[in-house]
Amino acid sequence: MAGIERTRSAEKGSARRPELGHQPYQMGKAVSAPAQYTPIQVRELLNSVPRICLSHLPTPLDLAPRLSERLGITLRIKREDCAGLTFGGNYARAVEFTLADALAANADAVIHGAAGQSNHCRQVAAGCARLGLECHLVVRNSSRTVHSRGNLLLDHLLGAVVHVVDAELGNGIEAEKSRLYERLSTANPHKNYYLYERDRISPLATLASAECFVEIFEQSTEPIDVVYLSSAGANQAGFLLARDLLGLKTTVIGVAPIDWDATTIIGRCYDAARALLGLPPAPLDPDSIENVSRYIGPGYAEPTPESLEAMTLAASHEAIVLDPVYTGKAFAALIADAEQGVMREGTRVIFVHTGGTPVFDLYGDDILKYLGLRA
Ligand SMILES: Cc1ncc(COP(=O)(O)O)c(C=O)c1O
Repeated sequence: MAGIERTRSAEKGSARRPELGHQPYQMGKAVSAPAQYTPIQVRELLNSVPRICLSHLPTPLDLAPRLSERLGITLRIKREDCAGLTFGGNYARAVEFTLADALAANADAVIHGAAGQSNHCRQVAAGCARLGLECHLVVRNSSRTVHSRGNLLLDHLLGAVVHVVDAELGNGIEAEKSRLYERLSTANPHKNYYLYERDRISPLATLASAECFVEIFEQSTEPIDVVYLSSAGANQAGFLLARDLLGLKTTVIGVAPIDWDATTIIGRCYDAARALLGLPPAPLDPDSIENVSRYIGPGYAEPTPESLEAMTLAASHEAIVLDPVYTGKAFAALIADAEQGVMREGTRVIFVHTGGTPVFDLYGDDILKYLGLRA
C-alpha cells in the first residue's frame, strides 16, 4: 500500500462559516433561552424514560493525536461504534429505549424496516435476539440488498425474518411496514406485534443521542468547540437538546447522509424529545440548525471521493474504520472544514463515530480503486 497519496491538497480561501474555536460561534439560538441543568440532572430526566440495558456504556472518547496533528485541531473521537449490540453504532443506545417501549406494550414481535443494509435494522434484530422477541424487517430492494453481505447477512444470522420490498426510503417503507403489521396481526391474532413507527421511535432515538452528548461532556477534560456527526434527524436533535439543557455553546454540525428535509425532521425530533421528558416547549430556530447536505454526493449510500479519502485518512492515522454511507461522509466534512480554514488552529473538536462499519466491505471495489490498487 506504500506510495498511496492519502489526501488531496487543501483548497484554501473557501470558508463557508465563520471560524470556529476561540470566537463564540452563533449557534443554538433557541427561541426561548433553555434552562441550564447539570449533567446529573439531565441524566435524571433521561432516566425517567423506561429503558433496558443492552449495550456497552460508556463508550470511549479517544484522543486522535495523529489526525489532530495532520488537521491542526484537537480531535477526539466518540466511539459509538464500540457500543456493542452486534458491531456497535448509535442505535445500540436507541434500541435500549425502543425495545423497552415494545416490552412495555407486551410485544411478542417487532416490525421495523429501512434500507437493505440498514444499521438500525441490524441493531433492532440484535436487541430482539437478546430479548427473545420475534423480529420482522422490511428492507428496500436495491443493488446492495445482498443477503450474503453486511448488515443483511447479520439480520439473517440474528434470526430476523426479512421481507424485501420495492419501495422508496422514508414514506414508502413506512407504508410497507404498516401493511405488514396489518397482515401479520390479522393472520396471528394471538400475537402482539409492535410496529416501529417513525413518530414514536425517533423521539426515543433522540433521547439516546442526548445521553451520548452528556457522556461526552462528562468525559471531556476541556471545553468542546464543535461536534461533527452524521445525521439527518435524531442524532443531531439529541445533541442539540443535551447541549441546550447543559447550557453550552458547542456548535453541533450534522452531516446529512440523505437528501431529506433534515431541518424540519431535527426540529420535530427535538420538540418531541422535550415533550417526552416533560419539558416545556422551546422550539429551535431553524436557522440555528447547522445541517450540511453537500457531502451526500450522487445519493444515499453512494460513495464519494471525499468519503473514501476520509476512510483512508482515519484508518491510516488512527486505525479507525469508517463507512462510506454515514461516518465517511461526516468525517469528510470535518476534514474539509479543517483544511479550508473554517476551523481555527487548535479548535477542540469531537467527531462522533456513529457506527455503520458492517457495510464497509460492500464497498471493497471502490476502496481498492481509490487506493489505486484496482483499475
Ligand atoms: C451509522 C449511522 N450514522 C448516522 C445515522 C443517521 O441517523 P439520524 O439521521 O437518525 O440522525 C445512521 C442512520 O441510519 C446510521 O446508521
